[in-house]
Amino acid sequence: MSEQLGSLSRTHTCGALRASDVGADVVLLGWAHKVRDLGALIFLDVRDRAGLTQVVVRDDEALLEQAKRVRGEFVVAVLGTVQLRSPDTVNAKLATGEIEVHAREVRVLNEAKTPPFPINEETAVSEEVRLKYRYLDLRRPRLQNAIGLRHRITMALRRYFDDEGFWEVETPILTKSTPEGARDFLVPSRVHPGEFYALPQSPQIFKQILMISGVDRYVQIARCFRDEDLRADRQLEFTQVDLEMAFATPDLVYTIVEGALAAAFREIGVEIPRPFRRMPYAEAMARYGTDKPDLRFGLEIQDVGPLFAASPFGIFREAVEHGGTVRGFVIPGAAGFSRKQVDDLVEQARQAGAAGLVWARHTAEGVQASAKAIGEDGIRQVLEATGTGQTDLLVLASGAAEATSKVLGQLRLAVAKKQNLVPEGAWELLWVTDFPLFDWNADERRWDSVNHPFTAPREEDIPFLESDPGRVLARAYDVILNGWELGGGSIRIHDRETQATVFRLLGLSDEEAKHRFGFFLEALEYGTPPHGGLALGLDRMCALLAGETSIREVMAFPKTTQAVDLMCDAPSTVDPRQLRELRLRPQA
Ligand code: AMO
Repeated sequence: MSEQLGSLSRTHTCGALRASDVGADVVLLGWAHKVRDLGALIFLDVRDRAGLTQVVVRDDEALLEQAKRVRGEFVVAVLGTVQLRSPDTVNAKLATGEIEVHAREVRVLNEAKTPPFPINEETAVSEEVRLKYRYLDLRRPRLQNAIGLRHRITMALRRYFDDEGFWEVETPILTKSTPEGARDFLVPSRVHPGEFYALPQSPQIFKQILMISGVDRYVQIARCFRDEDLRADRQLEFTQVDLEMAFATPDLVYTIVEGALAAAFREIGVEIPRPFRRMPYAEAMARYGTDKPDLRFGLEIQDVGPLFAASPFGIFREAVEHGGTVRGFVIPGAAGFSRKQVDDLVEQARQAGAAGLVWARHTAEGVQASAKAIGEDGIRQVLEATGTGQTDLLVLASGAAEATSKVLGQLRLAVAKKQNLVPEGAWELLWVTDFPLFDWNADERRWDSVNHPFTAPREEDIPFLESDPGRVLARAYDVILNGWELGGGSIRIHDRETQATVFRLLGLSDEEAKHRFGFFLEALEYGTPPHGGLALGLDRMCALLAGETSIREVMAFPKTTQAVDLMCDAPSTVDPRQLRELRLRPQA
């Protein structure tokens, strides 16, 4: 039987009481974290969001009877007096560890079934069970900390953007498709049968329109929806810290975003150095094989193609002859790798898409490489050119320049992880700049936007937009943290002509462009200021700052990688009447 809360109100949280409160009459409200029944003495740890307080029940028979009913996760109210603990029972690990509350009354406000996993200890529980009982998982310290941190980061960002003169403006959720490269979620209209709203992949078009409207500086903590494959850093719905500024230059965006990230980092007590370093896309691809390099460790990719132009080793020589190259990186301290360790490396490279991997090293007798045909002189040369020391291992791959770097980039990450080369607690932030504007889509024989179709080309590249789109670089930038793409943005096209040209290059007929973006092309004609901005992935930011490797750990109610909400069992079938109202028929 549960009792009523009545007019009882909490005087302190379970994390608040200290030695200075001794003698105070208090009311604590929370969950029974742990109950230790010693017969004539019961210890009851009461927990709420703020912490734990030890409650002692003794002497009074009726009171002991009351307290004996309490089980783990029951909801309780405790009235009592704060007392000092005896010196030998002080718990230095607990903020309230100097005191205990001697109960005068213990009320059970609600009972609880035995939870499917312990709440009061961090045992390993399968993610499936954690997600099904998310409300219980959310009571545990890991998620309490993550959700609390996410709140503090969000508030710090709101304060920061307010101080910088940004207005928070909400944009529609039921809207028209915005292209960000994923599939849309569609919502059928009941009022207009056969027509659909799309959920926003981002507020991109609306924020640009707000610049035309004279909002000048816009920010939104915006929910975005993308029907794409889920991964550790991707969900179907996620949150962006989305911003846009009129009269923006890339430098202005960098300064504002660096300030925002500094404010977020302060929430975990870290002062990040600014300005962040910058690296053109082409350099990131060449040196790290990715557009989101993790700079917490070395293993930098080097180009040694010229050394093999006349090599007796046919595979490398031919790669160079055919316009490709030979690239590789040095793994420090790996000269002593066993046969199996080396084979594993080769296998990893194959899985990443390499045709093969050659290794070379110094030995007690001289030098050695997996491809003997390189010859002793050739091996010595490449070991020297790459700075491979006596205890190191050099790995090499050949082929088209970018593809080779990409394979080595993946291998680089795998090796860093396996060899424990990633320093704990390191934060490496950088801007990757100068992305290409377009990517050639060989299947559909047309150009795709690398970013989205509103990104401006570099001013000096505008003359080549139509004649040589592949050489046009974008005024786009990504901000990278420890190898994760935290955010991306650009300076936008702000004149109708260039925008229409880009739509055409992307294979949109004038008619299609008008159907999808006619309102926007028209808006551009009414005095559009130059503008630009960026969106940060809030979930990714919070995951990294919380030390998590999946954004699911900082989202209250995430979906599984199978796109299912296990707690409320969504997606689910609906009442046929609802479908009829929407004039929809399920397909077989
Ligand atoms: P972009 O598509 O790069 O840019 O997205 C910006 C940031 O949003 C985060 N993000 C995601 N997070 C979780 N799950 C996803 N499925 C997901 N997709 C993206 C990433 C990413 O860096 N409108 C542009 C921004 C702009 O140009 O201003 C945009 O949406 O952290």
